[in-house]
Amino acid sequence: MTFERLPRHVAIIMDGNGRWAQKHSLQIAMGHQAGVESLRAIIRESSDLGIHTLSLYAFSTENWRRSAAEVNALMALLLRYFSSEIDELDRKNVRIRILGDKQGLPDAQCRAVIEAEERTKNNTGLNLCIALNYGGRQEILRAAASIARRVRDGELTPEQINEDVFSAELYTAGLPDVDLLIRTSGEERLSGFLLWQCAYAEFVFPATLWPDFTLDDYHAALREYEHRDRRYGGRKT
Ligand code: IPE
Ligand code: IPE
Ligand code: MG
Repeated sequence: MTFERLPRHVAIIMDGNGRWAQKHSLQIAMGHQAGVESLRAIIRESSDLGIHTLSLYAFSTENWRRSAAEVNALMALLLRYFSSEIDELDRKNVRIRILGDKQGLPDAQCRAVIEAEERTKNNTGLNLCIALNYGGRQEILRAAASIARRVRDGELTPEQINEDVFSAELYTAGLPDVDLLIRTSGEERLSGFLLWQCAYAEFVFPATLWPDFTLDDYHAALREYEHRDRRYGGRKT
């Protein structure tokens, strides 16, 4: 599969695990489990295609509102995922980054994700961002507070605050803005994902539920992106 123009940064809101479980008369946890299979294939393909950054929305700051049983199942899955995948990801030269408030995760999960970041920090292949306990407004507020502290401490003047200074305070510091955002399951909203970084992103909303999302669906989204005309407010002459 070749593409004339690939996005540098693909962001995916992996939605529809619950509906998939329901459709198959399975427990919700099985839907999330099935979702992990999709994720494996999409990460591998992104790495093989040479995509620069892949960001996956795995758990939002609002997802704590779900039942304890579901949250526990997701957290257990997270631990299992990191212990079973880390070797292959490292071997594939993938660099893992967590977007979100890691300290707000249970201890074991917090330790596992920090370990994965540490272990892969010198890798130079795909940047794999996993958003966990992530909220876009929370990320922006955190950046604003950090900048306010720097101004208070005399490191920075208000006039020096520009987009680069601000971006450098986000979880995605140093990574490009999102080019293509995919949300599966037919929902057409951001639910707080990468609000700043999606300012000029192209959006694709496949109806497929995340556990059913195949490489063909991924290629279709990338193909769709290839045909989009990105103007950034300008006009083609
Ligand atoms: C997305 O699937 C995964 C997470 C939020 C962790 P959902 O669980 O939101 O699936 P639906 O929206 O209920 O189908
Ligand atoms: C967004 O999906 C979060 C993740 C996919 C992790 P949700 O299913 O939680 O979002 P809403 O509630 O439909 O907006
Ligand atoms: Mg959902």
